[in-house]
Amino acid sequence: MKLKLKQIVVMTGLVCASSAYATDVEVLHYWTSGGEAKSAGQLKEIVKEAGYGWKDFAVAGGGGENAMTALKTRVISGNPPTAAQIKGPSIQEWGREGVLANIDEAAIAGKWDSVLPKVVADIMKYKGHYVAVPVNVHRVNWVWANPEVLKRAGVTAMPTTWDAFFAAADKIKKSGAIAIAHGGQPWQDATVFESVALGVGGADFYKKAFVKLDQRELTSPTMVKVFDTLGRVKTYIDKDAPGRDWNLATAMVINGKAGFQFMGDWAKGEFAAAGKIPGKDYLCAAAPGTEKSYTFNIDSFAMFAQKDADARKGQLALANAIMNPKFQAIFNLNKGSIPVRSGVSKNKFDDCALKSMDDMDSTSKNGGLVPSFAHGMAMPSATQGAVVDVIAKFMNSDMSSKDAVVALAKAAKTK
Ligand code: BGC
Repeated sequence: MKLKLKQIVVMTGLVCASSAYATDVEVLHYWTSGGEAKSAGQLKEIVKEAGYGWKDFAVAGGGGENAMTALKTRVISGNPPTAAQIKGPSIQEWGREGVLANIDEAAIAGKWDSVLPKVVADIMKYKGHYVAVPVNVHRVNWVWANPEVLKRAGVTAMPTTWDAFFAAADKIKKSGAIAIAHGGQPWQDATVFESVALGVGGADFYKKAFVKLDQRELTSPTMVKVFDTLGRVKTYIDKDAPGRDWNLATAMVINGKAGFQFMGDWAKGEFAAAGKIPGKDYLCAAAPGTEKSYTFNIDSFAMFAQKDADARKGQLALANAIMNPKFQAIFNLNKGSIPVRSGVSKNKFDDCALKSMDDMDSTSKNGGLVPSFAHGMAMPSATQGAVVDVIAKFMNSDMSSKDAVVALAKAAKTK
């Protein structure tokens, strides 16, 4: 990632509000849906409890693309926020720009090396020093469903294979409901695509194609089959999908307009905010064919170097607050994700969250644990952007699977 002036665009929809505290911590995030805002509110509370003000720098837009553009603008102008919601390989990219803050002081005091899984701790470090703090683990390869819609259509169980899924989707379509709630935005297209790829090709295929960017795998007959399957998925999405926000797609499942949605478990935050109970009002299952795999997406906050000593103190307080076990429980209960650190009580977590915890544990032992590329965990940001563009083009045109595979393999070479 290079910070170039030409990347500066005028952002709309920024919400900035200052507070009465002597020192504020300014936090850039993109948690603006109902469930997300509740979770962000918890962070704000704990920061205030620590004696610091919260300056909200919220940039609407699922997946965070708009937020990243806003961030670049602020960093280029020499006025970075205290912290920003950045994850995966992007943390290294920002580290290379020389703008991140070393927060080892908080990490050592909080024994982060022993309470975080090593793979997670490594993502949070730049050149061996902590520069970011993780807040959760989201699982991406979920399918959500409305049991009433399924029942009305005569679907008796959550589909575990793509064949069973399409048979169920046909029944739902026949019953007059929309089979798949989807928002036609590139990051949502990629979210569905990566679950299809994992289900059709398996974890090894996924890793070779999307982590190692292996050209052989990217151009394989399996990848053609992935696009064929995605092409079928497309036929169950309604015509109003283009541009729709993900939480509005979740609302379609909540209010019985649609049967299924493929989305990470931030969708559970929406179900929870609407007062819905898993197993009763909605169902969660691993996307077809992915029961033994787990696509992880870890939200984290990267810390930006501060000139002012008080701002620096506030930053360390924010880092401590994020790692507080009580906070990780309450935050993740609202967010739909699971805590990333050890030592957090599992008491109040629901069955979907407990399944996520168990599945993360078992897949970390059987090789099924893979990073979500749609959510910035697997590829350099430029590569991810190019790959996602191809998927979005496939979703929005009559591009053939074979042409898509050629374009995908080319995009994967983007640096
Ligand atoms: C983030 C989630 C967020 C979702 C929708 C994902 O990339 O990791 O925290 O809720 O996008 O914006």
